[in-house]
Amino acid sequence: MHRSYRKPSNDTIAEEYVTAHIIDGAKIAEDIRNQVKREAAALKAKSGITPGLATVLVGDNPASHAYVRSKRKTTADLGLESFGYEMPKETTQAEVVALVRRLSADPKVHGILVQLPLPAHISEEAVLGEVALDKDVDGFNPINIGKLGMKNRSPTFAPCTPAGVIELLERTGTPLEGANAVVLGRSNIVGLPLSLLLLGRNATVTVCHSRTRDIAPLTRAADILVAAIGRTRFVTAHMVKPGAVVIDVGINEIADASKKSGKRLVGDVDFDAVKEVAGAITPVPGGVGPMTIAMLMRNTIRAAEIATAKCT
Ligand code: GUN
Repeated sequence: MHRSYRKPSNDTIAEEYVTAHIIDGAKIAEDIRNQVKREAAALKAKSGITPGLATVLVGDNPASHAYVRSKRKTTADLGLESFGYEMPKETTQAEVVALVRRLSADPKVHGILVQLPLPAHISEEAVLGEVALDKDVDGFNPINIGKLGMKNRSPTFAPCTPAGVIELLERTGTPLEGANAVVLGRSNIVGLPLSLLLLGRNATVTVCHSRTRDIAPLTRAADILVAAIGRTRFVTAHMVKPGAVVIDVGINEIADASKKSGKRLVGDVDFDAVKEVAGAITPVPGGVGPMTIAMLMRNTIRAAEIATAKCT
């Protein structure tokens, strides 16, 4: 449960806030990974099945390679099978589609992740539409995204970073029903699916984006503020309602001469200033970041359980 802000006690003390509860995404993600590890061992003991995740990476985007390396390492660390497919950037759409179709039919593969972005000549929609719905552990098959947005429908899986944000909110006891939730950013990977997940939990959702006029009055009305726009320290203290829960999805590199690498990571939120106003806040790093892979692992074990139930 996060601490709420303390109201000014009298007129002479204009502003007296309790520093925000820092939401420890690294610890929550570790708990989820440990749970997945136990469930994978139990599934193996019970049915002899090792959950398998196939990753498909096309091209030479260094960030994508780093993400996929990290996903594959965690997969193996938790006792799941990792099947890695790397294809050169010249690969045709037909070749990627053929691979994804093959993986969709392969009984050893329970989850399929196509790392995005794909090279510009390949249609993401065409490739993601080939991921079997029961193996769509990234939640990006257009059918699963469509179900995410519709009343009384449930996707087999929800996208991992948005699902990780919801998990952090729920684990910190943040009420979602009736809450004013403001999402900064409308990307296919985070902002859009997250706004649908929040709506599905009966929050009142406002999505702000690059064409939104006068953002601060909107963010100041937010009980829950999620920043996913990729702009360093965009959210300042005066944009935040006292006591709000602030979730920072941004991962931005800035120069830092005090670091051996000469750089460090910061989010979309001015953490030091906003933590003095917010009720709870995620740090960067160590907030939302570790949750993405944890949710991917959880989705993969669920996919293996679905496949096992179908066989028995
Ligand atoms: N690229 C950036 N984030 C993601 C993600 O969560 N899944 C996939 N497939 N690609 C990404």
